[in-house]
Amino acid sequence: MALYAIGDTHLSLGSDKPMDVFGGGWTGYVEKLRQGFEAVKPEDTVVLCGDISWGMSLAQAREDFAFLNALPGRKLLMKGNHDYWWTTAQKMRQFFQENGFSTLELLHNNCHFYNGVALCGTRGWFYEEDRGEHSTKIFRRELIRLEASLKAGGMGEKYCFLHYPPLYQGYRCQEIIDLLVQYGVSRCYYGHLHGGSHRLAVLGQRDGVEYRLVSADFLGFQPEKILP
Ligand SMILES: [Fe+2]
Ligand SMILES: [Fe+2]
Repeated sequence: MALYAIGDTHLSLGSDKPMDVFGGGWTGYVEKLRQGFEAVKPEDTVVLCGDISWGMSLAQAREDFAFLNALPGRKLLMKGNHDYWWTTAQKMRQFFQENGFSTLELLHNNCHFYNGVALCGTRGWFYEEDRGEHSTKIFRRELIRLEASLKAGGMGEKYCFLHYPPLYQGYRCQEIIDLLVQYGVSRCYYGHLHGGSHRLAVLGQRDGVEYRLVSADFLGFQPEKILP
């Protein structure tokens, strides 16, 4: 049994935004993902840290979910900034059930446990979002979601999964970092950063939290093993 994380699969099997057009590492990325999951076993858990599918609705994302469901392991799906298909938890669970996507679960307003380690998280916040009059409201909601998830994690060890990096060269989301420290999070995994942005990622220990970037193109489309 093992725990893995990978973000930003950006699948587009049922829509028209294949990432191959960006070239570089993205060329043939769907096949790379399939191969990257070969190390994952059916009893393993993989956290998908947002930007999962380009589909604009559940129906348009169906092929992407079918692709993910066919890969080995239980997958915990999180919301990224491009997951326009995301709807209520009830509708998503019902859709997964109706389509037989039995390996897909949600990490949203809740937490899961893996061998006693609490897997917490939410989408998070990034400076790119800092626009529009509703941004404060959305930001506050993210903080509430994160704290609820961390509280659900109880007193034991906690890992936090975010889509957005709470730390980046020249950027620091203090409110999110404060919650990570306050609730004793030992590791924080995030995605969202692509291509040239990788070099501006903050990696390693900060304030007692270990930060790791797990966006798919950073990992070479191979989920990162984080616990045996
Ligand atoms: Fe992304
Ligand atoms: Fe993103």
